[in-house]
Amino acid sequence: MAKEIIKIDDLKVHYPIRSGFWNRITDYVRAVDGINFSINEGETYGLIGESGSGKSTTGKAIVGVEKVTSGRVLYKGVDITKSGNRRRLDYNKDVQMIFQDSMSSLNPRKRIEDIIAEPIRNFEKLTTDQERDRVQELLDIVGMPSDAIYKYPHEFSGGQRQRIGVARAVATNPKLIVADEPTSALDLSVQAQVLNFMKHIQQQYGIAYLFISHDLGVVKHMSENLAIMHRGRLVELGSREEIYRHPVHIYTKRLLSAIPVVDVDNREAHKRQRALVEREFQENQSKWYDKDGRVYPLQKVAENHFVALPEDAAAAAKIKELKEKERD
Ligand SMILES: Nc1ncnc2c1ncn2[C@@H]1O[C@H](COP(=O)(O)OP(=O)(O)O)[C@@H](O)[C@H]1O
Ligand SMILES: [Mg+2]
Repeated sequence: MAKEIIKIDDLKVHYPIRSGFWNRITDYVRAVDGINFSINEGETYGLIGESGSGKSTTGKAIVGVEKVTSGRVLYKGVDITKSGNRRRLDYNKDVQMIFQDSMSSLNPRKRIEDIIAEPIRNFEKLTTDQERDRVQELLDIVGMPSDAIYKYPHEFSGGQRQRIGVARAVATNPKLIVADEPTSALDLSVQAQVLNFMKHIQQQYGIAYLFISHDLGVVKHMSENLAIMHRGRLVELGSREEIYRHPVHIYTKRLLSAIPVVDVDNREAHKRQRALVEREFQENQSKWYDKDGRVYPLQKVAENHFVALPEDAAAAAKIKELKEKERD
């Protein structure tokens, strides 16, 4: 039985919007607006949605660098949205983050040795030799040459910088890494390399990933479970099998139809399908969103599959029935 490592419980992060002469708070951006999901030890959990859907805010709230408005993030049963709890649990050692833009997340004035050693220095007392050995070992793990330690971030390509970012994140022996679009800025071929060695490191060290992406294609072979985010809420959540083979919410279908097809024979059919889904998305907003355009609460439609549907039980029941038929 898979063991839960982290649980997100009705998490909300609202940013105030100020305006007028008095600079009063006139409204809020509901960047994250009541989401629930949990990640198991050693798994890759996908968090997918278009730009602006609230993915990065969620990731930052989980690692504890963004103040939450309400809700809890439970680690070992303790709410780590409180900084005292984070310190007590050594949370900042166990949970790390990797960013999309390695150029701005790696300090340009520091050598690679110091960049990778920094998190180690925060948590362990090592001699200079021990520290250098450890940094060499980490560079080796991510497939970088040992003379990299003397260099600076700008001397490397985007793909190599992402490797250095991973080495830095792995340095403290974490249990969970939040990877925020780690490959989005890279060429396709380099993307595949980075994903491969991330997978490799995960297996070797038993790390869980929260893998954030705007692209359902990228996470398809990575994640066991995933959640689809839209307008600060989750529209659909479930196992890889359920989401890719039996998607229900129109927003999920829209993201799926946006994955490019490689197969030339299927291109025309795919284009037609895509146009259909797009029209359904534009025309049937009232079916999938409430009168204020908000995403409905999640309802269970199958084992390990939840969809945001209107509160009336009839809708969920109907989909449940359809899904059962589909299986027979
Ligand atoms: N510090 C901030 N202050 C105000 N609004 C913010 C802030 N950070 C993010 N937002 C807004 O919150 C929403 C979600 O942003 P974000 O979490 O970055 O989405 P994503 O990572 O999915 O692109 C966006 O509308 C964004 O403009
Ligand atoms: Mg983002």
